[in-house]
Amino acid sequence: MTETAGTGALPVEGVPAARVLDEIRALRAGDRPTHGGRLFAYVYDPGVAGLDELAQAAYAESAHVNGLDPTAFPSLLAMENALVGAAARLLGGGPGTSAPDVVGSVTSGGTESLILAVKAARDARPDLAEPRIVVPVSGHAAFAKAAHYLRVALDPVPVDPVTLRPAVADVAAAIRPETVLVVASAPSYAHGVIDPVAEIAAVAAAAGMRCHVDACFGGWTLPWLRRLGAPVPPFDFAVPGVTSISVDLHKYAYAPKGVSVLLHRDPGLRATQFFAYADWPGYTMVNPVIASTRSGGPIAAAYATLRHFGEDGYLRLAAVTRDAVAGLADAVRAVDGLRLLAEPESTVVCFTADDPALDLFVLVDELTARGWHTQPQLAYAGLPASVHLTVTAAVAPRVAEFGPALAEAAAAARAAGPVVLPPELLALAGSLTPEALTPDLIAGLAAGLGLGGGAAPDRMAAVNTLLQAAPVRLRERLLVEFVGLLQRPTW
Ligand SMILES: Cc1ncc(COP(=O)(O)O)c(C=O)c1O
Repeated sequence: MTETAGTGALPVEGVPAARVLDEIRALRAGDRPTHGGRLFAYVYDPGVAGLDELAQAAYAESAHVNGLDPTAFPSLLAMENALVGAAARLLGGGPGTSAPDVVGSVTSGGTESLILAVKAARDARPDLAEPRIVVPVSGHAAFAKAAHYLRVALDPVPVDPVTLRPAVADVAAAIRPETVLVVASAPSYAHGVIDPVAEIAAVAAAAGMRCHVDACFGGWTLPWLRRLGAPVPPFDFAVPGVTSISVDLHKYAYAPKGVSVLLHRDPGLRATQFFAYADWPGYTMVNPVIASTRSGGPIAAAYATLRHFGEDGYLRLAAVTRDAVAGLADAVRAVDGLRLLAEPESTVVCFTADDPALDLFVLVDELTARGWHTQPQLAYAGLPASVHLTVTAAVAPRVAEFGPALAEAAAAARAAGPVVLPPELLALAGSLTPEALTPDLIAGLAAGLGLGGGAAPDRMAAVNTLLQAAPVRLRERLLVEFVGLLQRPTW
């Protein structure tokens, strides 16, 4: 690297293309592996040769196309409509079904789909000063984000500690006259269990409320698993009372990041999702989704991916994934002290530790040290800490290796013993209020935990233990502060 090139994003003199790519590849070397079936969160990998090349080529074709105006770029409109049609058909809508008028939009991801589902429901009730949504605590955090962004009150419904599902009576009891939306997950991200959608939709309908099924995670696997014979309960538009469904194509449709579909049972339900504006001197604007300018790249890549796999391709991938889930669940059952938190019903394996000598957060670090990247989940509202595995088709060839690695990591975690934080630190975490956090306190905590310096530490058990000791609001504040320490400009 020459003096003038430096490492910043804006060197004095431009850097040749090949070298820029080398630099990016060098940066990427420090990332978790997106391929290879050893990363059980964040990425969805079918493990199919040639798919990346196809998706990248399709992406490149449409990267500069702007979704701002569908009349200027009919190619994008055609691909979006095709994606919505495919998702609707897979999820019980379209011609010849009980939801023949289903419509939808392509969004940038699950969070945007959920925010828009809440917005559409909120704006359909302009008469309400304080609209509310009813969401089981196992519902994705994006509903809380939507509530926060849109100033809608959130009424959480507890889940049973054994079934990890909300009781329908509790959902019904949480519905108030100001409720605009009732939510069910198919399945929940954390545990991979499917809520009683038919019953929840029925109580919502009886109260005259909309019901959104968050199938962001499972909408592109449950239909195939059902075709393969799995006992998947009704969760889609076949269920009366389900008014909208979200499904992320950048999850189990294996499209590159940036594509989700939000479906509504009919155009009337969707109308309040849109935003139009003509009260300014610029172009008349109509946005079905949150972004205005948006790249056609992700949409073209998703379209190419779906067409390339087809139904038979997704069925094959689902069968492979189902078998991988079974193999991973067996691996968990074989380790003393570990217990499946839920019997797998979809593509999640979630386990906890019953033995206090086996610290789950240390286990996660030991797995990481062995090249297996899992996702720790903190204890919450009577639910124990757990480890989440998102299982994709690429995991299948790794299943036989995972069992011994898990056993070895568990033995190492037992040998290392549970994390012991200084008692004064734990006491502080348990008693501090977010308001009492000063910059000095945060800096001291971060330094003590090895945070800061632009990167997360290799071992996260101490951080997770501290977060777990904190009440929820303090957890949130600490996360904001810690990530704020990471997000600092480089010059
Ligand atoms: C059930 C569910 N809903 C919503 C989301 C949010 O999706 P995204 O991360 O694409 O915004 C996720 C992500 O994992 C999810 O699993």
